[in-house]
Amino acid sequence: MFMKTIIYYYTGTGNSLWTARLAAVELGNADVRPMAGTADKPAEQKCDAVGLVFPVHIWGVPSLVLRFIEELQKDPSRYYFAFAVNAGQVSRTLMQLRDIMKTHGLRLSAGYDIVLPSNYIPWGGPGPAEKREKLNREAREKIKHACGRISKKEAGPIEKGPLWQRVIFTALYKRTFSMVPKMDGGFWVDEKCNGCAVCEKVCPVGNIAMESDKPVWNHRCEQCLACIQWCPQEAIQYGKKTPAYERYHHPEVKVSDIIIR
Ligand SMILES: Cc1cc2nc3c(=O)[nH]c(=O)nc-3n(C[C@H](O)[C@H](O)[C@H](O)COP(=O)(O)O)c2cc1C
Repeated sequence: MFMKTIIYYYTGTGNSLWTARLAAVELGNADVRPMAGTADKPAEQKCDAVGLVFPVHIWGVPSLVLRFIEELQKDPSRYYFAFAVNAGQVSRTLMQLRDIMKTHGLRLSAGYDIVLPSNYIPWGGPGPAEKREKLNREAREKIKHACGRISKKEAGPIEKGPLWQRVIFTALYKRTFSMVPKMDGGFWVDEKCNGCAVCEKVCPVGNIAMESDKPVWNHRCEQCLACIQWCPQEAIQYGKKTPAYERYHHPEVKVSDIIIR
């Protein structure tokens, strides 16, 4: 009998959604569902395998994903796998996920590190087009290969970054984790803002409210950067440097795919 899979994703700029969709095609008989705003209904959960696909944030598992795991129906008889989508520094993320799942009595059988262009605009743009295309080609091959193993319910690997990354960046993750909700203090809008409210709609946690036709961030931010990256006017900024930086979203993902609430 064919394996039935549910793949849950969290995404800011579409890299993880693209990964989840490609994995679903490769695995066949798979549903793709957002983690954000999902009430995890038991009736929807008839499956043999569960995939978790999400971006690496500040060298670890984003808090939205941690909250989602709390909600997830736990069934140790299922095969659990994950894709940690990142910009080259997966660090300890998948080991952290494995350890957290273990505390819930679940086994993360396989965790893959998928490198795609960076959406972390405070540090710059997504890089040259050729490099982005190369990353996409390599990621596509890796996801296909991983799905071949997942469809056989193979155990391992749990991929990880080098030791120096795991030591230094895990400490940084722990230090910054609690500060993330208020990091939205760095967002501002310039004169290009026309009050279209796309930012409000793409926010996965409803952190943005429109007041006098301008976005206001309410300090429940996940730092997914969907608001700044999807703004059609490029009117949202973060800190001083972003006016000069190119915006990014995955080329095969549309803004309407991101609006889930
Ligand atoms: C707040 C934040 C922190 C990030 N931290 C990391 C990181 O620690 N390591 C890394 O390789 N990429 C990091 N990135 C980059 C994203 O993981 C990467 O661009 C990912 O593909 C974005 O996926 P998405 O489009 O599904 O949101 C970070 C991005 C954001 C917004």
